[in-house]
Amino acid sequence: MKNSFLEVAMECAQDAGKILREEMERPPTISYKGDFDLVTQADRRSEALIVSRLQKYFPDHAVAAEEGTGKDTTSEYRWHVDPLDGTTNFAHAYPCFCVSIALECKNELLLGVVYNPIYNELFSAARGEGAFFNGKPIHCSTIPVLKSSLLCTGFPNHNREVNPNFHFYWDFTLRTHGVRRDGSAALDLAYVAMGRFDGFWEFGLNPWDTAAGVVLVEEAGGKITDMRGQPYILGGPSILATNNSIHSEMVNVVAEVAGRTLSQK
Ligand code: IPD
Ligand code: CA
Ligand code: CA
Repeated sequence: MKNSFLEVAMECAQDAGKILREEMERPPTISYKGDFDLVTQADRRSEALIVSRLQKYFPDHAVAAEEGTGKDTTSEYRWHVDPLDGTTNFAHAYPCFCVSIALECKNELLLGVVYNPIYNELFSAARGEGAFFNGKPIHCSTIPVLKSSLLCTGFPNHNREVNPNFHFYWDFTLRTHGVRRDGSAALDLAYVAMGRFDGFWEFGLNPWDTAAGVVLVEEAGGKITDMRGQPYILGGPSILATNNSIHSEMVNVVAEVAGRTLSQK
């Protein structure tokens, strides 16, 4: 039986990824959790595989999985599982989605795995051991200033009309090479870890969206805070992830935009 937490997480992500690839071959079965919040058979099948596998290897561990089939226990170990991050992309056959799995112990994130099954891209990291892309070490970019950066952000599927992100999106677009909106927060964070993006921010993400990506970015030499530059709390109101070099510049822009937006109200 496998005993390395990271090995199990990678095995689960890759096997769940096979399910997502299979499901891509058929028309999606879409239902709605909210007005624009989609869930498909792929989300459910992927989650079933991951949760049952984690329970087989670690029966006493707690599992927090997005579609609600995890279980709470008194264990100090807690898995955070997003069986399909980027469901809207998946439902439209836009090949930008992934499986995201992380392990937390006593409020510390120990490892994270993000897997894009369409491109066969596996991102993995364990605390203190570096971050890897298909087994090779990765590092955040060395872009020194915001002006020459490529950023990414996301917009939630719920409470869309009250999300303040358009103000930040507009401002950062004018101050950088550009801002992408890819629709998979876990992949966005993995891309910061390997230098495809220099920074990422978003409001209102859940622990399963960010937990794995946080470990990846930190182990790749990047920085994670909330958008005010304060320590990031899993499931907190906002996240800011960067290559470190542009972090304070981004925090300053956030403060400026927030000040301007609030003063207009
Ligand atoms: C969503 C994606 C998206 C982000 C949304 C998330 P889901 O997750 O990560 O990029 O902008 O806020 O809810 O629903 O596809 O797992
Ligand atoms: Ca998600
Ligand atoms: Ca999901």
